[in-house]
Amino acid sequence: MIDGKKVLFSGMQATGNLTLGNYLGALKNWITLSDEYECFYSVVDMHSITVRQDPATLRKRARNLLTLYIAAGLDPEKNCIYYQSHVSGHAELAWILNCFTYMGELNRMTQFKDKSAKHADNINAGLFTYPVLMAADILLYQADVVPVGIDQMQHLELTRNIAERFNNIYGDVFTVPEAYIGKVGAKIMSLQEPSKKMSKSDENPNGSIYLMDDPDTIMRKCKRAVTDSEGCIRYSDEQPGIKNLLDIYSACTGKTPAEAVKEFEGKGYGELKPAVGEAVISVLKPLQDEFERLSKDKAYIDSIIKENADKANYYATKTLRKVQRKVGFPDRIR
Ligand code: TYM
Repeated sequence: MIDGKKVLFSGMQATGNLTLGNYLGALKNWITLSDEYECFYSVVDMHSITVRQDPATLRKRARNLLTLYIAAGLDPEKNCIYYQSHVSGHAELAWILNCFTYMGELNRMTQFKDKSAKHADNINAGLFTYPVLMAADILLYQADVVPVGIDQMQHLELTRNIAERFNNIYGDVFTVPEAYIGKVGAKIMSLQEPSKKMSKSDENPNGSIYLMDDPDTIMRKCKRAVTDSEGCIRYSDEQPGIKNLLDIYSACTGKTPAEAVKEFEGKGYGELKPAVGEAVISVLKPLQDEFERLSKDKAYIDSIIKENADKANYYATKTLRKVQRKVGFPDRIR
């Protein structure tokens, strides 16, 4: 609790170009929840280097992502929007939590398996302990709730297990966090392979809608989306392409999938696809315009970066000192 409010933590990697999946699965829910909670939204640049990055590109993408958080509607006066690497407590707590996490647990993480298959020439220790840094992110702020897409659920479960294990040994040190998964949009699939999630690292750019895609590109990608030969619009696992388009449409318009199905009753895919395109454009265009505007205001963004890093450091240090004391590190002499 901070000032009588429950705490929310979430983050995104500044790797690759953000997709509509990131927006509908996470960012959109962050905005809905931001009034109710005391929120920490991090640009998790330390997670990004588990895969080799070009330094200048990473720095630029990190700044763009931070700007995008604000452009999407997160008020930086109320929400703590900051770079993970500006708060050393993340790394310090991660080290301690590493000593409370088992190799077997980390070996089971599907994201580790996927990423090691993808980057077979660079299976580094950071990639393996990635979920422990994520646990540190969350537990450092004593978060009650963590809004994420479904693909992060396994990491969230691990975070809960680590917190409970630690608490069983040392008393109630950490708040055990709950995941918040949105009702629609929690797993947006690729437009080209609807059995795979829409991903920043997809090699086929037609599978993903990127947040910075222009309206023509968005429309073209929606019109090219892979569907099926059934010809009727139902919300069913047997029609994964159509189901995904309905999910995107619902998440962008605020309608339920059932309402969307009703709206397209008796209509064909040729009507659904452009309607999805329009719905996506109406969500992304204002975001892009605001991003352009904010990006030009260097002094404003810089002031947010400075002030919010100070705020994050304050809360992170509070938890860190408590944990360090519990595990037996000597007190600091003032
Ligand atoms: P990342 O950067 O891969 O994704 C950011 C958020 O977007 C969600 N997401 C999706 N949701 C729906 N459909 C999709 N196709 C889709 N693709 C991505 C993710 O679930 C996530 O919520 N490890 C995390 C970042 C992280 C973090 C944290 C998150 C680091 N520390 C602490 C929460 C709490 C990641 O790589 O997300």
